[in-house]
Order: sequence, then structure tokens, then C-alpha cells
Amino acid sequence: MPETLSPIERAKHAAAWRASAYVESGMRVGLGTGSTAAWMVRRLGERVAEEGLQIVGVPTSSRTADLARQVGLTVASLDEAKWLDLTIDGADEFDGALNLVKGGGGALLQEKIVATASDRMIVIADAAKEVSALGSFPLPVEIVPFGWQTTKALVVETLVNMDVLGREATLRMNDDVPYVTDEGNYIVDLNLLRIGNARQLSLVLNQIPGVVENGLFIDVCDMVVIGHGDGAVTLR
Ligand code: 5RP
Repeated sequence: MPETLSPIERAKHAAAWRASAYVESGMRVGLGTGSTAAWMVRRLGERVAEEGLQIVGVPTSSRTADLARQVGLTVASLDEAKWLDLTIDGADEFDGALNLVKGGGGALLQEKIVATASDRMIVIADAAKEVSALGSFPLPVEIVPFGWQTTKALVVETLVNMDVLGREATLRMNDDVPYVTDEGNYIVDLNLLRIGNARQLSLVLNQIPGVVENGLFIDVCDMVVIGHGDGAVTLR
């Protein structure tokens, strides 16, 4: 591990390293997005160079695809790989049932498709991401640009009808323009404080016309590898 890392980067690095050990030659592996997932992609690149590990990586964003190629991984699209053995990805929050909030890095749509098309999903996270109830981190909702203001208003109306705590919805911006995902969509971040019924909220949000997907990953994650500031790792 590089000695100059801050405790938080040390934690992310430790989790990524441990999770990378679950990857075996011959596997088709979903490659997550974000700073923690980037450590995992770099580690897999090292294992390809050092051990001759042979895998096919399916990236969940253009950023991850660029990094994966840079470090020498063989990259394929999900349609080329078809079904994956394992996906390793970061998360913004996870709870005791291993349900997640994802999408802080804007890649939730591809991340959810890839994780769902995998036999197994391992999340890598620093310990600060563990919560008793999801919702402290703003919940990202990916929406199509057409009629986005109407869709955003419908999302807020839905939250009011569901009696969800906190209903602030903010269009994600990149400098002065809307942030655009790899799929050409916008993201609305919901400040909900606490999500009481994540499963129901996820289903209801995805029924609103204009909503493409939301950042709640329910019953998708099989294991969380938690990194700590001293470089230790625990498993959930
Ligand atoms: C990207 C994600 C990331 O996994 C999540 O934001 C965590 O990122 P990081 O590892 O940088 O904290 O969901 O869409």
C-alpha cells in the first residue's frame, strides 16, 4: 500500500485489494465506478501483469473503461460478455441488510444493469459508508432530459404522497450545465434524510414516466468488504 495515503484512501485501497482476491482466471467481472472501484481496477491490472490473471472486464462507465484499458485489462461490453461471474463496485451507503445507495459518481444505471447481470456482487467501501438506515446520502435518480422539470416535480409529488421525510430534489450540475450521464440522461439528487421503506420507494420512483432508474440497490449485493483507516478489513 502506498505510504502517503490518507486514512480514507487507505481504507478504500484495503477494501479494494481484499475484494480483488475473489477474482479468478476465466471470470467475467463487472468493474464498478468511483474512487474505491478505481483501486480495484488498478489491482486487477497488477494481477494480470504479475500473475497472468486472465479475465474479461465489463466496465460500468466510460471512466472505468478508460482506466481498465490503461492498466491492461481486456474489456468487453455487457452484451459481449452476456452474464458475469462477479461484479465489484463501490457504494455511497450500505445498511445492515446490504441494501445500497449508489450513483454519487453518476454511473448508477450501468452499475445496476451490470450488478443485476452478475452471479455475485461484492461492494467495497470505507467504514463511514455503513448506516443504520439509508438516506443520509442524497439518493440519485436518473431521468431523461425531455420534460425533466415535469419529471422532477412528479418525483417530489410522489415523495409527498408517500410521506417520505425531506423532499428536496436538486438537478445535478456540472459547472453551469446539467450533469449528463454516459447514457445521455440527467440526475436529480433527493435529500431524504432517512428512507423508511427503500424497496417500496425504489419501485414507486421507477414507475414515474421520465425516470430511468434510481440509486437504491435492493437485494443485489451479496457481501460488503469494509476497509478501515489502519488498513484492516472486515466482511459483512
Ligand atoms: C458511482 C458510485 C460509486 O460506487 C459511489 O459513488 C462510491 O464512490 P467512491 O468509491 O468514490 O466513494 O455509485 O456511481
